[in-house]
Amino acid sequence: MQTKILSTSEYDIRLAGKILAKGGLVAFPTETVYGLGANALDEEAVKHIYIAKGRPSDNPLIVHISDKADIAPLVKEITPKAQALFDAFFPAPLTVILPKSEKVGSIVSGGLDTVAVRVPENEIARRLIQAAGCPIAAPSANTSGLPSPTKAKYVIDDMRGKIDAIIDGGDCTFGVESTVITLATQTPTILRPGAITKEMIENVIGRVNVARAVLEGMKNNETAASPGMKYKHYAPKAKVVIVNADKQMYENFVNSKKNAFALCFENDNITIPKVTFGRENDDLSQAKELFDALRKLDEMGAKKVYARIPSTNGVGMAVYNRLIRAAAFKIIDLKKPFFIGLTGQTGAGKGYVSRQLEKLGFNIIDSDKIVKKIYENNPELLQRLAKEFGNDILIEGILDRKTLARRAFSSKENTEKLNQIVHPKVISLCEREAKPLAVLDAPQLFEANAQSKCYKIISVAASYETRLKRIMQRDNITMQQAERRIHAQLDESYYINHSDFVIYNNGEDIKTQIDKIMEEIL
Ligand code: TXA
Ligand code: MG
Repeated sequence: MQTKILSTSEYDIRLAGKILAKGGLVAFPTETVYGLGANALDEEAVKHIYIAKGRPSDNPLIVHISDKADIAPLVKEITPKAQALFDAFFPAPLTVILPKSEKVGSIVSGGLDTVAVRVPENEIARRLIQAAGCPIAAPSANTSGLPSPTKAKYVIDDMRGKIDAIIDGGDCTFGVESTVITLATQTPTILRPGAITKEMIENVIGRVNVARAVLEGMKNNETAASPGMKYKHYAPKAKVVIVNADKQMYENFVNSKKNAFALCFENDNITIPKVTFGRENDDLSQAKELFDALRKLDEMGAKKVYARIPSTNGVGMAVYNRLIRAAAFKIIDLKKPFFIGLTGQTGAGKGYVSRQLEKLGFNIIDSDKIVKKIYENNPELLQRLAKEFGNDILIEGILDRKTLARRAFSSKENTEKLNQIVHPKVISLCEREAKPLAVLDAPQLFEANAQSKCYKIISVAASYETRLKRIMQRDNITMQQAERRIHAQLDESYYINHSDFVIYNNGEDIKTQIDKIMEEIL
């Protein structure tokens, strides 16, 4: 089929109106996204919409009219709340669902006994509906599952050759589809958020609910209040993951990613390839650009995308609702503090790995430093230790670490006693100091029972000879002394069996190993 590309001239709109009246399909701009229209009262024409989009037949269409006076014949009854919404908003990016009249066929309504009606604000859309002389059923003009088109070129990409005509009316003002609210339930319920916000609606008709599926995924056994909720949506070819983080955290996180794209706000300082969707704290700009950004990512060949999280206030709820579907509900929550544990036998080179992780933006909690801090600033703890290991471990109130070590490490029991007193304090202080993306660098991670605090554990390992050499050099001690230290620790197999990842450090490439692990963890 040859698809005509039309302008917004009087002549072209009249032509498009005629095509619709005769049962053809025309894509046209609205203030939200482009719609794919057919005569809503012509079931044969409406069928072709489902075919052109590849849309499941149980997903009903919105019926567009140019004037609110034209709603009455389509619905059973205009309730006072419905009238109040029409009067307050129409024409607007708002769709209202009511029980349908006989006039509305079952193909338009997807087999339901309700109908969705909307008077668009966009002039071209209303002129077209008038020219057609009938209500126009129109879903968004994208191939089912792809982001809705906010520019004529995206409609051309998806629909050329499948429909009769496309009216090029420039960019859409809002960029996300209309707010959908049903009045066919006891309490009015928002099924899809849009530019007309919950607050705006509540100002007119009082309390409204927001369907749970708006901000969360649908459960497997849940029936959709709106069939559109259950289908895959707005999905670019790339895998999108939302990152819950503030600006700085997001930048640190994303800038360390290889072979990935950022879907971020205009002012974010990003060093990897990026596409922006509006400005932080400006929900309207985000709404306007989101779908365009998703399409651009595909054009750029993005495979993996890390998206900055939008706020869910005001129109932000609509932006979040679309983005979370584009991301198939995948979120990395960097705001929830969690540890990645880093441990290993002495001499394995844990310190080097820790510094590499710090360079990648991780917040390193060095448990050795914390232990020192505790000994320096905790008179109560010191008194307890003195009671256990002898008063002479304190010299004028200050801990003599050498004496303590001699006593505490003289037997297994004494070592355990010391650990029981000190470790819980260390871990709780580590937790207090942790910022998001924290790495707990702890040689005694297992002895302190800190596994349960760690989301994942990485051990650094090196051969016996390498460790021996490193310890002798580092601490300037004899081979015998070094061997004694090694044997006082848990053996290598314990570390390996109790860790999620092992980094080998006998001269292997550390950076590559870290990248691979972090890719999996995050
Ligand atoms: O902004 C918009 O609303 C755009 C422009 C073109 O007007 N249209 C649009 O239509 O987004 P569509 O078909 O892509 O999305 C309509 C949504 C779908 O999720 C559908 O399931 C829901 O509205 N819907 C339509 N009629 C319904 C009904 N009777 N009951 C429940 N949900 C309904
Ligand atoms: Mg759609």
